[in-house]
Amino acid sequence: MSENLSAFLYLVASVCFILSLRGLSSPETARNGNILGMVGMAIAILTTLASPEVVSYTTIIVGILVGGAIGTVIALKIKMTALPQLVAAFHSLVGLAAVFVAGAALYSPGAYGLGTAGNIGAASLIEMGLGVAIGAITFTGSLVAFGKLQGIVSGTPVRFTGQHMLNLAIGIGIVVFGVILVATESHTAFWILVILALVLGVTLIIPIGGADMPVVVSMLNSYSGWAACGIGFTLQNNALIITGALVGASGAILSYIMCKGMNRSIFNVIFGGFGAEAGAAAGGVDTGDRAVKSGSSDDAAFIMKNASNVIIVPGYGMAVAQAQHALREMADILKAEGVNVRYAIHPVAGRMPGHMNVLLAEASVPYDDVLEMEEINRDFGTADVAFVIGANDITNPAAKTDPSSPIFGMPILEVEKAKTVLFIKRSMSAGYAGIENELFFKDNTMMLFGDAKKMCEEIVMHLDS
Ligand code: TAP
Repeated sequence: MSENLSAFLYLVASVCFILSLRGLSSPETARNGNILGMVGMAIAILTTLASPEVVSYTTIIVGILVGGAIGTVIALKIKMTALPQLVAAFHSLVGLAAVFVAGAALYSPGAYGLGTAGNIGAASLIEMGLGVAIGAITFTGSLVAFGKLQGIVSGTPVRFTGQHMLNLAIGIGIVVFGVILVATESHTAFWILVILALVLGVTLIIPIGGADMPVVVSMLNSYSGWAACGIGFTLQNNALIITGALVGASGAILSYIMCKGMNRSIFNVIFGGFGAEAGAAAGGVDTGDRAVKSGSSDDAAFIMKNASNVIIVPGYGMAVAQAQHALREMADILKAEGVNVRYAIHPVAGRMPGHMNVLLAEASVPYDDVLEMEEINRDFGTADVAFVIGANDITNPAAKTDPSSPIFGMPILEVEKAKTVLFIKRSMSAGYAGIENELFFKDNTMMLFGDAKKMCEEIVMHLDS
């Protein structure tokens, strides 16, 4: 294939990726966006395979078969609730790939069109140094994030005196050895740089608290994109440069959006200012002997049947229970009875960006009924019922009232303003941030204890009867 044709096809693939990202920005167009992404990837892979520089098709085919088989098994087996740690684990592989490619290019520059050993151009060495540093940080950082989300490593932040100074010293070390690498092409400098970046990946992520992990995962997503971009420069592959930059930029934008959703500053997340007390290990909460009002599915059906406005607030528990289908059925019956039913989505509800939107779309909930926090928050004041299904932290008023709370400052869905608040959950346990929710004890709150799916199915039964 001629160089011009392959450059043109890479351009077409890149345009597909850009349009794919545009499609993915709304649930209505997400399916088409996904298809465009796949088409772009197919064009990019076929163009690469047709390139005259391919040395061995056998190695490529074996790689595709092994990688494809592992990917297929994981995709079939993985539970929706374990996706965040899977994403973190996959990011680590992108980082590791960047380290390997940079290492291979340093030892065999001729194979990558970078000249001969000892005579690699300064620009290529700079690209290599940047790619390998970002790749190694992404590798170990993502492994720590995976461990925290999977519960292998404690979600509690690890802090010690002089931590910031240590990170700064490692950062300076990386720059110094990067400069030596560019000046001397020293293999020793390269490997010291790799080791320092691997250590920095760990020391940067261990102090981050459980509540801030979503931002970290999307930040690592961004790093993995920049690492891929670095590999693209080393391999002189335009498609990889553009794709890496797209992943890097969109990951950075997502981190920014999530920080805004949680009212965090990105610097506080990275340098461990917030989320310190929060942890994934949310356990039971000491509620003392305060009374809570609990009701049955029958009570809930009666209250909602007689309501004019119901706002549903889904959270992580809906995902765990896979209650979205039963929930939509319940909403459909209420709508048929003339009740105005809408869904309110908090930007960090669940455990990954867009978690609730995906589940509701899967259950064919009409997109027009699903509203973002800013669009619907003011309507809770006029709602008869806020139906909170498996959500907790995203409704917790401590975020507004308790400066010592790990979620203080995070905007919440103001469900307490509704006439009646129904909370479906299995117990009085805390949510992700591990803190008590005062709303459970309010006069206008009724707790519906039970599994979210089972409770919705029972409500449907009572609504039908
Ligand atoms: P959470 O605060 O985690 O609350 C979920 C609630 O669901 C729990 O209190 C739990 O109570 C209940 N639950 C669990 N399984 C259930 C089941 N089968 N049936 C009924 N209820 C069930 O969730 P949220 O309100 O969605 O808030 C999200 C939290 O996760 C925030 O703190 C956020 O920062 C954090 N986070 C978000 C993300 C992203 S990007 N969305 C990623 C990581 C972390 P019981 O045990 O009593 O049932």
